[in-house]
Amino acid sequence: MSRSYRISYIEGDGIGPEIFASARSVIEALGERFKIAFEFVAAPAGDGALRQFGEALPKPSYSIIRESDLCLKAPVGETALQTIIYLRQQLNLYANIRPAKNYRFIESKFHGVDLVIVRENTEDLYVSREFEENNGKKAVALKIVTEEASKRIARVAFEMALSREAGRSPKEKEAREASVVCVQKSNVLPKSDGLFMRSCESVSRNFPSVKYSSMYVDTAAMNLVRNPESFDVIVTSNLYGDILSDEASQVVGGLGLAASGNIGNDFAVFEPVHGCAPDIAGKGIANPLSMLFTVKMMLDWLASKSNDENCAMASKCLESSISVVSGSGIKTSDVGGNSRTIEVTNAICSEIGKGKGQWTDDGNMGVVKEDVLLKW
Ligand code: IPM
Ligand code: MN
Repeated sequence: MSRSYRISYIEGDGIGPEIFASARSVIEALGERFKIAFEFVAAPAGDGALRQFGEALPKPSYSIIRESDLCLKAPVGETALQTIIYLRQQLNLYANIRPAKNYRFIESKFHGVDLVIVRENTEDLYVSREFEENNGKKAVALKIVTEEASKRIARVAFEMALSREAGRSPKEKEAREASVVCVQKSNVLPKSDGLFMRSCESVSRNFPSVKYSSMYVDTAAMNLVRNPESFDVIVTSNLYGDILSDEASQVVGGLGLAASGNIGNDFAVFEPVHGCAPDIAGKGIANPLSMLFTVKMMLDWLASKSNDENCAMASKCLESSISVVSGSGIKTSDVGGNSRTIEVTNAICSEIGKGKGQWTDDGNMGVVKEDVLLKW
């Protein structure tokens, strides 16, 4: 047995409970296969919690989250400010890591995309300091940027570029050089975005082997649909990161796959990038893959933080199992299949249970062998 981990979880609203159930089954299958003990503790939060307890993030839920090793969160509805934005700020989860990668089993207009958006997660317009003047006829929102937080997120981005490069084969290294692009709008905001850019630039000097450049956010938005494969690591402030990560997810096949981790120094909240999709809630057709790739990020983080080889193997096995199942056509309708959430989940659990060690040899699907665990 490797260590045991206590996962606090937020089932969320809309499709949240359905995709969380999928994640839980998959985590249990992986726990059994790789002898990892996972304990689940519910931390009700979101619109449902607001209705039931009068608070979107009740104090007992917050305590449960704080006492756990990490939090796994499904999407919530209209109460994001009181739940996830609060948790990001309160727990100082300063790095929001949002990968976007092409998989062969998901149709996309692009090929060879493998980028990560490293989004600053505590500042910018997300500090929620808004004011009204003139009886609500004028409104002001503060955009906060500090050198400390900007340098901190820049260091995460450069470390990420190095660890991604370390996992590439010589051939891949030839095709893609480790790079960090700082995305900002310093031509219009020379003080705030200028500070962000200057901070990234100054950190870049400590990482001479990583190519550094800077790009205005409008250009970055355009290049993401022009030549997305040219990006490696994008470091950016909170709001631009929010917008660009939705865009990047569409570039590789849709929000139904997009995962993220809100990472601090010793705690993290993992969640899909998308919202709670009330229009399809309860129909059993939601794509669980965003939640399952979120589980993969969780396992990578545990592997790296706790130096836990079992979690590292579980992560690779999960990615491989997703690839095998999706490659065989068992997928939900948003990504071109006609399977239900439960069918995708069951097939992935059964693939995990087969125990053939497929994660070491995935020549057909071509996703795992060359994959690196993300290092934090
Ligand atoms: C995200 C979401 C949140 C954000 C919302 C729900 C507040 O869009 O995680 O990207 O803007 O950060
Ligand atoms: Mn968003």
